[in-house]
Amino acid sequence: MDRVTAVLCSRNRHKARELEHLLPGWRIEPLDATGWPEETGTTYLENALAKARFGREVTSGGVHVLGEDSGIEVTALGGKPGVESARYAPEGAPAIARLLRELDGIADRRARYVSEIVCIAPDGNEVRGTGTLDGRIADTPRGTGGFGYDPVFVPDGEESTVGELGDAWKERNSHRARAARALLAALGSVVLLAAAGCGGRDPTSMRVLRAFFAHTQEARALGTRFPHLPGTLKCVLHQGGKTLQASCATDISLVKPSRAVVTLTEAWNHGASAHTWFFFIRRNGAVESVVQEGPPAPQP
Ligand code: IMP
Repeated sequence: MDRVTAVLCSRNRHKARELEHLLPGWRIEPLDATGWPEETGTTYLENALAKARFGREVTSGGVHVLGEDSGIEVTALGGKPGVESARYAPEGAPAIARLLRELDGIADRRARYVSEIVCIAPDGNEVRGTGTLDGRIADTPRGTGGFGYDPVFVPDGEESTVGELGDAWKERNSHRARAARALLAALGSVVLLAAAGCGGRDPTSMRVLRAFFAHTQEARALGTRFPHLPGTLKCVLHQGGKTLQASCATDISLVKPSRAVVTLTEAWNHGASAHTWFFFIRRNGAVESVVQEGPPAPQP
């Protein structure tokens, strides 16, 4: 199976290792570059976007580019170090020592990790995913898994630190795992299916997709909300008079010579929520069955 190659615009080697596990079917290559921009954003999103856009400028094109920005927010420190986490103190023991010093004698140990991932596709489309993990800061470091503040971060519902819970736990539960899942939902699995050698823009898929939108009433109605080409678009959903930023994705995968699955996904709430329709169809566009997953998308 061809894998999707994505360039990760980060100098943190731990993130490339984690993301390769979190995005199955992707090969993550750390960006090797000089002249990195300063991290001057006031939000994780601004920094993640700046990293990804820098990566797009210095790579030759044709690849997905990922920017990730993350940090730890400590309630008793007013949410600090937050977006400044990487610059708070050198990563590892020095940063942990400073954090424990600043929390010395403070009973409120609540904290959370935040991760924001931005993916710029070769066609320039930008998609994002956000993830958080709530927990508290331990009194002393424990465990050797993970990196950064993991030896002092105890997730809610656990007694052990992330350092003790280890990399397999992180792969399922971390803020970065949640952000990666939100990103995949926002991408509407288009890249995974393309990686599996299905659908894409080959003429047969396009003919089946056009027939699907032309022939069935439900598909015609949905067609007004979705791009007809396999791919992801930014779109708007409506809820109680408010507009919500969202992304709508279309994909098609040819399962057998005679059948295909058309996948339509709407992702909103920064990718944390998604609704997906799977239409099992014949090559002439006739729908055999429909499976839906996730909460209904907000409608006016
Ligand atoms: P960034 O490279 O600007 O996103 O910096 C992120 C910083 O936040 C890292 O240097 C760590 O100090 C902290 N951090 C982010 N994610 C994690 C994690 O998964 N474990 C531990 N520390 C993290």
